[in-house]
Amino acid sequence: MKTELYKINDTTQSAEIEAVAKILREGGLAAIPTETVYGLAANALDPDAVNSIFKAKGRPNDNPLIVHISEVEEIYPLVTSFPDKAKALVDAFWPGPLTIILPKSDIVPKEVCPRLETVAVRMPSHPVARAIIKAAGVPLAAPSANSSGLPSPTKASHVIDDMNGKIHAIVDGGESSVGVESTVITLATEVPMLLRPGGITPEQIESVIGPIEINPAVLEELPEGEVAASPGMKYKHYSPEAQVYIIKGSFPSFRCFVETVGDEGDYALCFDGEEQSLKINAVSYGGENCPEEQAHNLFALLRELDSKGAKRIFVRRPDPHGVGLAVYNRLIRAAAFRVIEVPPVYGLTGQTGAGKTTVADLLLKRGWQVIDCDLVARQVVEKGSPVLPRLAKEFGEDILLPDGSLDRKALAKKAFATEEGRRALNAITHPAITERVSQQIIDEKDRFPVFVIDAALLSKSEMYHYCSKVIVVTADRDVRIRRIMSRDSITEEQAIERINAQPDEQYYKSIADVVIENNGGEIDLSDIF
Ligand code: TXA
Ligand code: MG
Repeated sequence: MKTELYKINDTTQSAEIEAVAKILREGGLAAIPTETVYGLAANALDPDAVNSIFKAKGRPNDNPLIVHISEVEEIYPLVTSFPDKAKALVDAFWPGPLTIILPKSDIVPKEVCPRLETVAVRMPSHPVARAIIKAAGVPLAAPSANSSGLPSPTKASHVIDDMNGKIHAIVDGGESSVGVESTVITLATEVPMLLRPGGITPEQIESVIGPIEINPAVLEELPEGEVAASPGMKYKHYSPEAQVYIIKGSFPSFRCFVETVGDEGDYALCFDGEEQSLKINAVSYGGENCPEEQAHNLFALLRELDSKGAKRIFVRRPDPHGVGLAVYNRLIRAAAFRVIEVPPVYGLTGQTGAGKTTVADLLLKRGWQVIDCDLVARQVVEKGSPVLPRLAKEFGEDILLPDGSLDRKALAKKAFATEEGRRALNAITHPAITERVSQQIIDEKDRFPVFVIDAALLSKSEMYHYCSKVIVVTADRDVRIRRIMSRDSITEEQAIERINAQPDEQYYKSIADVVIENNGGEIDLSDIF
């Protein structure tokens, strides 16, 4: 079948509007723009036309369709009751992204709502959609115009990708502004129930008709065998080819996760301003506090990442409130309910002798995991580590002992002789330390509520960016000098020399979110949570 493409930006294009209306009146299929997503429309009162929608989409034929109208009055013949709450919702939100379910009349063919006594009706706000419905002179059944299972189309090009050659016409009316499908609420139950979140939020609805219930399938996977209140919710949905994972946690924890497990072909879908700082491919889907933007961009980006050949997409979890509830609802389905929680990671740092270890021990007692980077630094140069051959290449084979293990003294002599040597050493060992620490966090993420990275020079390392909070331990200078002298059996001059080799206290305080005084008395950890 040849699919005609019409570009209609404006309701004065009556010739094009009439051409599409004629196709629909005659039982044909036309994809039309709406403010939510593109719809695949047919005459709702013509059972054959309705059946052809299911065929073109590859849609399971027990999944009912929404009937679209152009004026409020057009709902009356379709339903057998029109309660006050329906009237209140219509007054408040029509035309717009709200679908209302009511008991159906006999003129609605069973093909529109298989096995149901109800019908879903919506009056879109998109002027071109309304002009086409009006010109057609019949209500239009229209599911989203994607192939069943794929993300809904928000641009005509998406519809062309899925439907070209399968339907009679595609109307290009620009980008859908909302970007996710309409809110679906049923008034056919005793208490109104939200079946699908969308551009009109539960709060907005409650402000008009009072308390509503939220169907559990909005946020959770339906148990096997359970009958869905809205049949559409039981199907695999919105899924790109790539595997989607929702990552729950702060941005630093997200970063730790994606930079540790991310591979070539993986993408991060994050919030505005975060994409530049990630070491893997990353795209933003909107501002963290702007669910409308996230909704607008989500489906288009899932399709775009597929076209780039993305293997896995790691998504920053949207806040599931307001329009964010709709964004989250679509994403958990796109992710087949895979949500990975990455706990908070805090940094623990401070000058030598400040007593970091005492604080670390107290945090361990809380059941937190503390990763000692001095220990990890030793582990990464243990015999057999891939770091050793790289050190040998940089500093010479004689930094290795005959048995292949590291000759620490020989390495220190070469690496610490010059600033350049020190830098070369760090360039080899630091990434290995970061990798090991972050891998441990990812491996143990389900076992501890909080991870603490204990590192004297934390702020000079990549790991700093995995920490959502930095805890700095301080002690008076004379206390530190005494501690270092007795800990390492060295002279006062030597202790002072070590202290002077480190950044000063002012610097540590400048990177601190929490400062812990540790002069030997009681330690107050109440600011760390
Ligand atoms: O924004 C939208 O609503 C878009 C545009 C094109 O208007 N349409 C749309 O249609 O998303 P569709 O078919 O992809 O989704 C309709 C949803 C499905 O989850 C379906 O199960 C539910 O509405 N639904 C339709 N009639 C129903 C009924 N009588 N009872 C319960 N759920 C119903
Ligand atoms: Mg759909």
